Amino acid sequence: MSLPEFVKIVEVGPRDGLQNEKPVSLDDKVNLINSLSQAGLKYIETGSFVSPKWVPQMADSSEVFAKIERTDGITFAALTPNLQGFNAAIAADADEVAIFGAASESFSQKNINCSIDESIERFTPVIEQAKARGIKVRGYVSCVLGCPYEGKIAPTQVAKVAKKLIDMGCYEVSLGDTVGVGTPLAVKALIAEVTKLVPINQLAVHFHDTYGQALANIYSALECGISVVDSAVAGLGGCPYAKGASGNVATEELVYMLNGLGIVHGVNLETLAQAGWQISEALGRQPNSKVSLAIKV
Ligand code: HMG
Ligand code: MG
Repeated sequence: MSLPEFVKIVEVGPRDGLQNEKPVSLDDKVNLINSLSQAGLKYIETGSFVSPKWVPQMADSSEVFAKIERTDGITFAALTPNLQGFNAAIAADADEVAIFGAASESFSQKNINCSIDESIERFTPVIEQAKARGIKVRGYVSCVLGCPYEGKIAPTQVAKVAKKLIDMGCYEVSLGDTVGVGTPLAVKALIAEVTKLVPINQLAVHFHDTYGQALANIYSALECGISVVDSAVAGLGGCPYAKGASGNVATEELVYMLNGLGIVHGVNLETLAQAGWQISEALGRQPNSKVSLAIKV
């Protein structure tokens, strides 16, 4: 099977990572995002406009957007669960927004306090407003390979939700293994099912590394023709509503693997690793990345 020549890396560390770490200072966040820009990342999920009661770590997202250095050609994106979040993201001058649904009813309730159908209703005005302003909207489907509350999730259910998000106007849907339970053949089966309804070039993958399967799963997805991959510097984070979920796959691991495969991605590994060490020091620990530990001088 052929692999893509180029992979777009969606850096989710400042959002998906830091939302589930102990709080760090505004300056630490801003330094992290500026360092990620310098490392060559072209898409950085910068913050999240959700309820500060639910996710206090993201409460200063407006300030983060105000203080980071903006560079042409880099997309600074925000998560927005509803119109209130979207309006805050626009006020903060986010370049792009993301809405996030789930393939599991129980996870939808725990994560955003509504059913899957209700979440789609809440997203509708967000997409309408975004379209009116020319803002692109990315979609997420969580729990695509398993749910912390329901266990197995049918790939057909994932495909249905992904198609809804695309039909509503998302330009891309990221398939989230929120709990990190997937394995490579399950990834292939999932992508085979989802691509019956959504073209492969409108799909991305988002793996948490709870069971150490993330890189193998990414390789499997690349073999299926996926060329957009989410990852978090230093393997930051997890998900506050998925018990036991560990961080996203580390961007350093992804970059090292892509280098070895000869796949172009535009990121400088050393600068990236330095960014990972910087934020890990702020968190008082080492990066959750074997590559980072191996190349540290
Ligand atoms: P709700 O309680 O159903 O909302 O929460 P509500 O509309 O009834 O409002 C209740 C209160 O929340 C009100 O405040 C609103 O103003 C406030 P009060 O009057 O009580 O003081 N509120 C907000 N405040 C700030 N920003 C907003 C907002 N909306 C309402 N946008 C809500 C619904 C979605 C807001 C809530 O459930 C929530 O914030 N959930 C957080 C979900 C979250 O951030 N989860 C983590 C991200 S998803 C993820 O990590 C998975 C992903 O990485 C993919 C993967 O791994 O699979 C994307
Ligand atoms: Mg996630």
